[in-house]
Amino acid sequence: MILPKFVRMVEVGPRDGLQNEKTIVPTAVKIALVEKLADAGLGVVEAASFVSPKWVPQMGDSADVLAGIARKPGVRYAALTPNLKGLEGALAAKADEVAVFGAASESFSQKNINCSIAESLDRFAPVMERAKAAGVPVRGYVSCVLGCPYEGEIAPSAVADVAARLYAMGCYEISLGDTIGTGTPTKTQTMIAAVAQHVPMDKIAVHLHDTYGQALANILAALQMGVAVVDSSVAGLGGCPYAKGASGNVASEDVLYMLNGLGIETGVDLDRLVAAGAFISDAIGRPTASKVARARGCA
Ligand code: HMG
Ligand code: MG
Repeated sequence: MILPKFVRMVEVGPRDGLQNEKTIVPTAVKIALVEKLADAGLGVVEAASFVSPKWVPQMGDSADVLAGIARKPGVRYAALTPNLKGLEGALAAKADEVAVFGAASESFSQKNINCSIAESLDRFAPVMERAKAAGVPVRGYVSCVLGCPYEGEIAPSAVADVAARLYAMGCYEISLGDTIGTGTPTKTQTMIAAVAQHVPMDKIAVHLHDTYGQALANILAALQMGVAVVDSSVAGLGGCPYAKGASGNVASEDVLYMLNGLGIETGVDLDRLVAAGAFISDAIGRPTASKVARARGCA
């Protein structure tokens, strides 16, 4: 089995995880979580989201979170930016990188960002330009790559089309989101193969929610194709507020345990990661969704 020697783990728990929490998590807790994740060795932590606070109230303190973090050299603190207003917020808060987020499904695009796929791409163009002028790298997300909560099946060609356009616009990496976690390994590989016709394999990341318990299997299927960037969420936190029933991303602890077992380097320390997961699970009063954390005694 040919696998990458190193996988870059992108931690999205403080954003994708916490955005779905109904009760507002104190800013100090978010800051402490981000710091613990960076201390565990994660090189990219998605810490903030400059979206409308009317749409996602939990992310309304993103500027304060970015301002409060004791930044660790070499770690990139990332933020979501759906439009120019969001980008200006992220730049003012000194995000190290930002992300635009589109979808392979028209209905999801409307529900999530209130515009069509074509309109979203038009909206991202000035974001790309302004970020480039500021020297800030932009990541591109595609949601619903293996299914949509409103439309069901999504054609790999639809995913490839949006991914190709985000890449052509200048996104340095395309993160493929199984927003509702319905994918299975062969479907994952078919979809990645379609995207890889337009985006180099080393610019593709997978971002898999674990709703149906398929995420680790799908990650392994992606690694076998040469994908070497994996998004995950500590304690398996979260979901998407605009995808009903979607559970959290695959737990970072579980991904790391698998990668360690495969002999793949990540630079991340499992004990510290488990401790970060225990911290946030305790703070929000929610049992961890990480099986590895549970096996190691976390509630
Ligand atoms: P809209 O209502 O169409 O925006 O929302 P608008 O341009 O018409 O503006 C309406 C109001 O929002 C105005 O304020 C704007 O100033 C304000 P008002 O005049 O009414 O007081 N506004 C903003 N405020 C703060 N920051 C901004 C911003 N933009 C406008 N950036 C919009 C469009 C995109 C803003 C909205 O739909 C939105 O915020 N959506 C975000 C939804 C979201 O965060 N979803 C979760 C993240 S995506 C995800 O989780 C998937 C992912 O993990 C991958 C996967 O799993 O698939 C990435
Ligand atoms: Mg997500």
